[in-house]
Amino acid sequence: MSKFFVTTPIYYVNDAPHIGHAYTTILADVLSRYHRTLGDKVFFLTGLDEHGQKVMQAAQKRGLSPQAHCDDLSPRFLNLWKTLDIRYDDFIRTTQERHKKIVQLVLQKVNDNGDIYTDEYEGWYSVAEERFITDAEYESGQFRDVKKLKEKNYFFKMSKYQQKLIDYIDAHPDFIRPEHRKNEMLGFLRQPLGDLCISRPKARMDWGIEIPFDREYVTYVWFDALVNYISAAGYGSDEPKFKKWWPADVHLIGKDILTTHCVYWTTMLFSLGVPLPKTIFAHGWWLIADTKMSKSLGNVVNPLDLIESYGVDAVRFYLMREMVLGLDANFTPDSFIKCFNSDLANDFGNLLNRVSGLIHKNHDGQIPQPGILTPAEEDIKTQGNALPGKITELINQFKVQEAVTSVLDFVRSLNKYMEVQAPWKLAKTDMDSARRVLYTAAEGLRIAAIMLAPVMPQKTAAVLDILGASNTQPVWGQLKPGTILKAHPPLFPRIEVEKK
Ligand code: ME8
Ligand code: MG
Repeated sequence: MSKFFVTTPIYYVNDAPHIGHAYTTILADVLSRYHRTLGDKVFFLTGLDEHGQKVMQAAQKRGLSPQAHCDDLSPRFLNLWKTLDIRYDDFIRTTQERHKKIVQLVLQKVNDNGDIYTDEYEGWYSVAEERFITDAEYESGQFRDVKKLKEKNYFFKMSKYQQKLIDYIDAHPDFIRPEHRKNEMLGFLRQPLGDLCISRPKARMDWGIEIPFDREYVTYVWFDALVNYISAAGYGSDEPKFKKWWPADVHLIGKDILTTHCVYWTTMLFSLGVPLPKTIFAHGWWLIADTKMSKSLGNVVNPLDLIESYGVDAVRFYLMREMVLGLDANFTPDSFIKCFNSDLANDFGNLLNRVSGLIHKNHDGQIPQPGILTPAEEDIKTQGNALPGKITELINQFKVQEAVTSVLDFVRSLNKYMEVQAPWKLAKTDMDSARRVLYTAAEGLRIAAIMLAPVMPQKTAAVLDILGASNTQPVWGQLKPGTILKAHPPLFPRIEVEKK
């Protein structure tokens, strides 16, 4: 038994949650649930990123204070996580006092270590865009209201830690995963690393955490947001808690925020003298019919619409089943329906329907006696007993997609076994064999349901309830003969699509 501390990015409160956000959060939930069933102590942290210019501007547009704007929007995420059955242990919002205090503590410590300095930056500033633009952007002539601006800011000495970071990555092969992302970061670190501007003058942008040693400035939103991983874990406020959980076992992120995590965050931790997370795992991108999701293209997939049509568990299953961790995946309604109909309706759902249908028809609705196993049953039993260990190994490698397919492979071999044994025929000629086959299929189904429970908590609970399986140990032979099977509607009714 050990501990497992998993985090998701804290999402921008401004954006409506879409399947990309849902994906990372479901992934964290699935990993957490697998670890909980192994008896590990789990801390699953998620939350919202609420400071910065975009939030301030959006609030102004609505005539709200930034805080009121955040309070109004945060339930979009909380409600989605509730609908998606996400069992997080903590939900942090960067506007909470407990977080702001720790960001200020971190700034003070990093400053005391001599890792913060002030510098004056002079450049082209676009009033319309409210940001400094590059010389090339200036020359493009596409920006209105441009002026030369000279601004004093605070900088974090990231460059000081460049070599230390490279050495660390080289010495810790599991630190950045998958491998190609690690190589991407090492490539990035071959160029000289600049320092990081970590302040914004309040005169220009005041929606942020005040810099403790200069009240005219607020903290740059990334320096603020990254600290959530330790502020929520008790850093600077609850030492026993922090000792228990830190370092995080994995920061799950999308590939878009690799540099902020692998470079900004880790050098911040170096400066603080806090150990680095064990793994930063960057997954790929969900594309919509091969295209990037974007508001302007109007192709953003709202998970709530999918849930309404197909149910929570099917959405969780599809997202886990379709993305090979580390690579991009492509969402299309067709691939969703295909996955639903083949894996869930034809394979998993159908196994339950056949088993329960035949047990009701020929065996008084009771789990039959297994009798004496033949090599065919021994084979299924061996597969069933081997499954949990295999899944654990894959989960420890973050190979959720392979874990899900392994369970489905087992389900398919159970269906195959049913077809070969044909217990509906045996019922007419050899009742003992019919009983043996149905016990075996039902017990295999029980193990498959237990192994899929972290992915589909509701549907698998329904299967176990139908089987009267109060014992959820994934060890062969727990199903009690004589148990009455409950009547039930089909688990995953096929989605019929009109043929064009
Ligand atoms: O970057 N496919 O927040 P964010 C897969 N606040 N995952 C996707 C995705 C897609 N198309 N789109 C988004 C931020 N994601 C910062 C993070 S952390 C200290 C601060 C997921 O709302 C993925 O996990 O833009 C990605 O990294 C994250 O949402 C970005 O969320
Ligand atoms: Mg983003």
